[in-house]
Amino acid sequence: MMIYLDNAATSFPKPPEVLEAVRAALAAPASPGRSGHAPALAASRLIHKARKNIARVFGISDNSRICFTANVTWSLNMVISGLGLKAGDHVLSGALEHNSTGRPLERLKREMGVDWEVVPPAKGFLSPSDFKARIRSNTRLVVLNEASNVSGALSPAGDIKEAIGSVPILLDTAQTAGAMPMDDYGQWADFIAFTGHKGLLGPTGTGGLYIKEGLTVRSLAAGGSGSRSESLVHPDFMPDAQEPGTANTHGLAGLAAGAEFILKVGPDRVRRHEMELTQSFLDLISGIPGLTVIGPGQGEMRRVSTVSVVIDGWSCSDLAVSLEKDYGIMIRAGLHCAPLAHQYLGTYPGGTTRFSFGYFNTPADVTTAARALSELARSAK
Ligand SMILES: Cc1ncc(COP(=O)(O)O)c(C=O)c1O
Repeated sequence: MMIYLDNAATSFPKPPEVLEAVRAALAAPASPGRSGHAPALAASRLIHKARKNIARVFGISDNSRICFTANVTWSLNMVISGLGLKAGDHVLSGALEHNSTGRPLERLKREMGVDWEVVPPAKGFLSPSDFKARIRSNTRLVVLNEASNVSGALSPAGDIKEAIGSVPILLDTAQTAGAMPMDDYGQWADFIAFTGHKGLLGPTGTGGLYIKEGLTVRSLAAGGSGSRSESLVHPDFMPDAQEPGTANTHGLAGLAAGAEFILKVGPDRVRRHEMELTQSFLDLISGIPGLTVIGPGQGEMRRVSTVSVVIDGWSCSDLAVSLEKDYGIMIRAGLHCAPLAHQYLGTYPGGTTRFSFGYFNTPADVTTAARALSELARSAK
């Protein structure tokens, strides 16, 4: 039997409604926003439903400010590369960033001379005052991974936005969207980048970006939008400005269904369930000799359901192989595309073994994983 504890990579299983929505969309001729025949209009309605449901997840009042992309990596790049940053412009980011922001920022630094500064965590957490203290007159953007995909530490995104004032904040919600209540974010966030295939329970190849009214991002591509076809100039209105080319209709139909599932269950209930599993896992593994939790420990609620560990005498990759081979447990080992975070957490370059719980995991999954760790730690060379 497989025990899937790699929900930080992608969530599994997807609700049956998601599978059915993808199947139904693929079974219809679907070219949304283009032709005027009935199936094309039905496809447009599917995209509209996805936009409406995502707007509800984040409490966004104008859903035309949400554009769909292939994943959060693409959305983050759209803002980082599309803001027109110049040599000498200052950008702040947290230290627990994923390569999806670290690499585009490093590229701007090397190729254009953008001044990228990293805010280090204090005792594993980022603090609003540390961001505030670094804001300068030329700070053009603050980039924040809301929850670390390595340590699980949750950052106080709303408080950080309050502390930085009018400087726009770009949120990487890869590890939070769908996993906790976020229905006030539309009131204060400037850019919300999300991915569809993790907590929102949709298919891979889906994601999107919310751009607050009044902020402009130059689109990375221009092309067919189904609107203003008489003009060679790419439209400048949302969402068409940021959605050149035919949409991933069946993927977005699945994302609409995934978001609807989350809204029906309630993000607060998802959060409660995942935190119960996480806290119980932390309790069960806390006494295992030779095991260290990298990140928030027992009782700490400023976290998401991702728990990284290292065990004396085990490389994280050997541990992952044994967990799969001997116990059927699927997890992820290594650097998790976040070398910067590991440098600040002291686990670079060895990495960690990462367990991540999702809405469909059970207390029995947690007990089995904790028992497996206990047995493997005892057998360490
Ligand atoms: C914090 C964080 N940001 C960005 C990403 C990239 O997600 P995607 O591959 O869906 O673009 C991930 C995925 O692992 C992540 O955990």
